[in-house]
Amino acid sequence: MASYNILSISNNPLLFLIISAAYICIFVVTPVLCECKNAPVLFNFGDSNSDTGGLAAGLGYDVSFPNGRTFFNKSTGRLSDGRLVLDFLCQSIKTGLLNPYLDAIGSTFTNGANFAIVGSRTLPKYIPFSLNIQVMQFFHFKRRSTELVASGSRHMVGDDGFRNALYMIDIGQNDLADSFAKNLSYVQVVKKIPSVVMEIRNSIKAIYEHGGRKFWVHNTGPLGCLPQKLSLVQKNSDDFDSFGCVSSYNQAAQLFNEALSHLCQELRSEMKDAAIVYVDIYRIKYDIIGNATKYGFSNPLMTCCGYGGPPYNYNIKIPCGQPGTQVCKEGSGAVFWDGIHYTEAANALIASKILSMDYSTPHMAFDFFCQ
Ligand SMILES: *[C@@H]1O[C@H](CO)[C@@H](O)[C@H](O)[C@H]1NC(C)=O
Ligand SMILES: *[C@@H]1O[C@H](CO)[C@@H](O)[C@H](O)[C@H]1NC(C)=O
Ligand SMILES: *[C@@H]1O[C@H](CO)[C@@H](O)[C@H](O)[C@H]1NC(C)=O
Repeated sequence: MASYNILSISNNPLLFLIISAAYICIFVVTPVLCECKNAPVLFNFGDSNSDTGGLAAGLGYDVSFPNGRTFFNKSTGRLSDGRLVLDFLCQSIKTGLLNPYLDAIGSTFTNGANFAIVGSRTLPKYIPFSLNIQVMQFFHFKRRSTELVASGSRHMVGDDGFRNALYMIDIGQNDLADSFAKNLSYVQVVKKIPSVVMEIRNSIKAIYEHGGRKFWVHNTGPLGCLPQKLSLVQKNSDDFDSFGCVSSYNQAAQLFNEALSHLCQELRSEMKDAAIVYVDIYRIKYDIIGNATKYGFSNPLMTCCGYGGPPYNYNIKIPCGQPGTQVCKEGSGAVFWDGIHYTEAANALIASKILSMDYSTPHMAFDFFCQ
C-alpha cells in the first residue's frame, strides 16, 4: 500500500476514495453541526466502545501508542487510533470531549462526565465497573456536584444540568463476548440476554428516579465480525456469513438488540415524560463491513494494529501496542484498529450515520436534549 503522501493521492484510487469518503462525512455531519441553545450536559455509561480514558485513569492500565496516533498524537486511554463515536457526537454539538469520571488530573466536568470503562459488562452486578457500579458512581457524582454548586462552584453541574442532560448507554457487547469466550453454547448465551437487558432497564429507571428524562441507547454491533473473534474460530467452521463473519455471534447480538429495542418501547410507555432514543449501531456497522469498498475501506476484517498478517492480522497474545505488532499506514482504509475496536475513520462514518437520524427510533436529532 502506498505511503500516506499527499502527492500520490491523485494517482492512487484507494486514497482518492478515502479522501472522498472523508469529505462526504464532513458534508453529512455539517448540516447537523449546530450549537445547543442550552449548555449541553452528557453522561455516558458503557464499555471500551466509549471509554475516553477511564480504565487508564482508574486502574493505571497502560494503553500505549500507537493508540491515539491519528488524532491525539499520543495515547489518551482510548482504544482506537483516534476519536471514538462519542467524541464525534460531542464535537457535533460543539462541546468538549467528555472527561472520564475517574480522571482526577486536569478534568473538567462542566459538560458532564464519562463513566464508561474498558471491559465493562452489566453482570455480575457488583464487580467494577459494571453498569450498576457506573450508575452508582453517577449518583455520587450528582450528590457532590450539587453540593459544590450550592456552595458557589461554577464548574460543576447543577440541578438544571442534571434534569436536561442526555444519559447515554452503550453496553452489552462484553456480556455476550465473555459468555462465548467461556465456551458457553449459543443456546446458553442467548438464555442470558433477558438478565442483561434487565440490568439496563434497572439503570435507566434508577437514573429516571433521580430526575433524568433524556436517554440515548446504542444497541450492540456485529460481534461475529470482530477480527479477534474470527481469529479464535476454527477455520473449517461452517458458521460464517457471506462477509466472513461468525453467524451465531451475530445472531446472538441481534437477539440482544431485539430485546433492547423492546425494552426501550416498554420504557417509553412506562415513563411518559421521558425521551428514549434507540440507535441501531448494528445496522450501521454491518453496512460498513458489508459495503466497505463503497465507503473507501478495504479488507474490512483485517486488523490495522496487530500481529500475524492476513487474513485477520490478530494474535491474542500480541495485542496492539506490544513490541512486534504490525501497524497499517495511516489512511490505508482499515475498519478495525486493534481487532476489537474501530478506527477513527470508521468511527467518523458511524457517527455521521448516527447523526443522520436514519437509524434512530424515534427519529430525533442528537442535539434534541439541548434545544
Ligand atoms: C500531530 O503531529 C503532527 C506531526 O508531528 C502535527 O502536524 C499535528 O499538528 C499534531 N496534531 C496534534 C493534534 O497535536
Ligand atoms: C471449548 O469447547 C471445545 C469443544 O467442546 C473444547 O474442545 C475446548 O477445549 C473448550 N475450550 C475451553 C476454553 O474450555
Ligand atoms: C449495502 O448497501 C446496500 C445499498 O445501500 C444495502 O441495501 C445493503 O443492506 C448494505 N449491506 C449491508 C450488509 O448492510
